[in-house]
Amino acid sequence: MAKITKLDDIVSLCKRRGFIFQSSEIYGGLASCYDYGPLGVELKNNVKKAWWKAVVQMRDDVVGLDSSILMHPLIWKASGHADKFADLIAECKKCNTRTRVDHLKEKTNQSAEEHTEHIAINSAIAGAQDLSNKVCPNCGSVGTFTEPMPFKLMFETRMGANIDDSMTLYLRPETAQGIFANFANVLDSTRVKIPFGIAQIGKSFRNEVTTKAFIFRTREFEQAELEFFCEPGTDEKWYEHWKEARFNWYIDLGLNKQNLRFREHDTNELAHYAKSCVDIEYRFPFGSGDWQELEGVANRTDYDLRQHQRGMRTLNSWYENNGDLTKIELKEEADNYEKGPLSYFDNEKKKRYIPYVIEPSAGIDRSTLAFLVDAYDEEEVRGEKRNLLKFHPVLAPVKVAIFPLVKRDGMPDIAHNIANDLKKYFNCFYDEKGAVGRRYRRQDEAGTPFCITVDGQTLEDKTVTVRDRDSMDQIRISTDQLRNHLREKLDV
Ligand code: GLY
Repeated sequence: MAKITKLDDIVSLCKRRGFIFQSSEIYGGLASCYDYGPLGVELKNNVKKAWWKAVVQMRDDVVGLDSSILMHPLIWKASGHADKFADLIAECKKCNTRTRVDHLKEKTNQSAEEHTEHIAINSAIAGAQDLSNKVCPNCGSVGTFTEPMPFKLMFETRMGANIDDSMTLYLRPETAQGIFANFANVLDSTRVKIPFGIAQIGKSFRNEVTTKAFIFRTREFEQAELEFFCEPGTDEKWYEHWKEARFNWYIDLGLNKQNLRFREHDTNELAHYAKSCVDIEYRFPFGSGDWQELEGVANRTDYDLRQHQRGMRTLNSWYENNGDLTKIELKEEADNYEKGPLSYFDNEKKKRYIPYVIEPSAGIDRSTLAFLVDAYDEEEVRGEKRNLLKFHPVLAPVKVAIFPLVKRDGMPDIAHNIANDLKKYFNCFYDEKGAVGRRYRRQDEAGTPFCITVDGQTLEDKTVTVRDRDSMDQIRISTDQLRNHLREKLDV
């Protein structure tokens, strides 16, 4: 039970302190959609910056991209999403609630695990037909389900005002396809050579049957994806490389190693494009303590680039069928597909091939939740409860808070000057309201690593106190050394 309380505590702290709000709350809220408030947007931006730094900035073999959310519909035919990106669902005949078949629990095994995100429906159909002993999670009836049916996960929308030329588009269910669609553009416009990666961060959308636990699984969400292109035969080596690199990223940013693990996918839960996939899981405090996916690292082989070569060959048929994807069959692969428009020529080895792809795909919202959960702590200090978020300094929304001890004797002016100087380097917060002890507590709860206080001694010797959030220890630092001291401690 303690763990359930912990997630509730996080949700309440997030609302109280402006990290995360329910979307459209003034209209009663929109299920599974959330807004990041003033502290939340800083935290989430810091998670994204840390990802970009590790995956793009610090490497010589990865470049960035920001592709559009709306793309040509044939992309989704070629990628397989239009036909295969569906969950198998069944409807309870008593209460009409639809549930994912792979999430239904046996009457005798209420603790069945719910690991999978999405599985190719073909393999799901093979695995889970007998629903006679399954329990409806809404009304508790047993064996009252309809036959399983596929439920498509892509959101549809329409583009264009004219009836003649408006067309159905899909909100992207993964950012990855924008990368595959730009593979040739990046090759032609940069000097990248295989092995290399293209990275992007952006919103994706899935009409999830079951949403879950606050910002863990939502219908609109943000992904950070890397498609790393390599020579066939070297893919296993790069798969291991990225597994390790991505696991260590979470630890380097402060997640407790005890709460992280790898979980290899069984063959029947692999996405339709993957040869192998491993999840990096975090032990979230949902229910009985759940291991849930933060990030998947998949070996997508040459599947996507080959499929897009087929998609490009299908374009005429798309026009002939007025863009109706249901009437289009993807053209067969060309005989010399290895030399097709999305192939790569290795100048040194003098050979041409379709690269293999290793894809680390991280969920930004669920990583943000993991960082919040892992950082949350409660302590008793001198008979009072102290809530704190022990964020790694790189992730902390506010790096330094600056207080005058009292609002007189020129202390506010000195504190403002310090804040104005430090603001150029990182986020600062100036606060002069209330007792200084209460100001410290508010910053502890926001996860601010350091608080600076200007006091009587500052007027005499130009030193201030710097208080550490976690130990609550204070040291005195000369104001002219503050900037360097803090930049070193904060790694910014
Ligand atoms: N690109 C992998 C995923 O969206 O799950």
